Amino acid sequence: MSLLDKIAAAVTPMASQEQRAEARRDALQLAQGNDWLGQIIDHHRQIEQAFERALNADGAEERRTAAAGLAEILMAHANAEEAVIYPALVEGSSKAHTTMAYEEQAAAKINMAILENLDPMSREWRDKLEHIQGAVLQHVYQEESSWFPDVVRNVPADKQRLLTSRYEQEFGRYNGGPGNTPAQLPEIA
Ligand SMILES: [Fe+2]
Repeated sequence: MSLLDKIAAAVTPMASQEQRAEARRDALQLAQGNDWLGQIIDHHRQIEQAFERALNADGAEERRTAAAGLAEILMAHANAEEAVIYPALVEGSSKAHTTMAYEEQAAAKINMAILENLDPMSREWRDKLEHIQGAVLQHVYQEESSWFPDVVRNVPADKQRLLTSRYEQEFGRYNGGPGNTPAQLPEIA
């Protein structure tokens, strides 16, 4: 953990595994099947699994492939949230939460770009991946425990129906939509 991470953790303590599981259970109860929140929770699960696959991959090629798979689902999810769901946080939760949501995802995108240029067999690669995983899990906890339940409670139902169709459309645009090609990572000498 970097010094900055330690300071951040002291200000906002990291959620425990139990707290994250409880937030997930409560968020699932608020979700109505495959609505925007249901889709998002499903994508959060896929992201968590993609981190585990990357951290448990053996060999440079397998790690590169697993990191590319993680980048694909993480970016599609983040872009769709930023385009459709975070604007609704302004009305449903607060401007401060909206700003924090965008900033945390920007940091994750920067770190994923750094990861791409690291040797997958190096200690730095693993440290960077674990750092991103910790930050993303905490971000997911903030979304599921507070920010998104606020939107469910405070945004009118007709607007939420629009969020569902628009989130699905945006996510599809980046993940397997027409013209989408699998992520390619540059060869590292
Ligand atoms: Fe999310």
